[in-house]
Amino acid sequence: MEIHNKKNYHILPSILGGDLGRLVEEAQTVDIPEIEYLHVDIMDGHFVPNLTMGPDIVKSLKKHTRFKLDVHLMISNAPEMIPSFADAGADILTIHQEAVIHLHHEVNHIKKRGVKAGVSLNPSTSLDTLRWVFSDIDLVLIMSVNPGFSGQEFIEASLGKVKQLEHMRKQEGARFHIEVDGGINVENAGKMYESGARFFVSGSAIFYEKDRPAAIHNLIKSIEDARTHQTSLEV
Ligand code: DX5
Ligand code: ZN
Repeated sequence: MEIHNKKNYHILPSILGGDLGRLVEEAQTVDIPEIEYLHVDIMDGHFVPNLTMGPDIVKSLKKHTRFKLDVHLMISNAPEMIPSFADAGADILTIHQEAVIHLHHEVNHIKKRGVKAGVSLNPSTSLDTLRWVFSDIDLVLIMSVNPGFSGQEFIEASLGKVKQLEHMRKQEGARFHIEVDGGINVENAGKMYESGARFFVSGSAIFYEKDRPAAIHNLIKSIEDARTHQTSLEV
């Protein structure tokens, strides 16, 4: 999966951080050229202690917005639901390693439906669980909070986890992108970029703010500062 914008990273507003009774209007508040993807959190009240939306809502978001949809499945029966979310218009479909027995099979199931395949890891799950599917996946989503809610505090250990994953990725010559989700804000986005993250999901740091474009630009600035710093070190 290539990143086509001039930059080499994406910020993905997580609609869960907005007012769920006004989904399309909320999505429109982040409709600025810098944003290509919307992150959509699907929860089943079983894998995580919260309930959110289903395929029909994903379909509706697809119809009423211009965004590509990054659909994050926090559900116990992910394998059964892959076809519904693929048909609903997901562009990236991410399943949790912890919710799936035959991960290799399910990742390839997603790809056969013409959708990019992501695999997510909870904060306590080891990176080694993905080693043998590295070459099959398009995206690894490292959770930097325990999944379930927007507005939780960033878990610092996830910085080291991303760094280690980026190291493993390079060693294995794998091409997946690293996505981070949970408590991402101006304090840690730059550090996450330096560690290797390129897809930055953000709920509260964008949607809890009145001026969403300004909040996005603040995140961009902290990533750009880290990029400049990294480039100057490389010279
Ligand atoms: C949490 C979700 C996140 C959440 C992020 O389980 O997967 O996508 O909306 O929200 P913040 O950025 O507020 O942690
Ligand atoms: Zn998410």
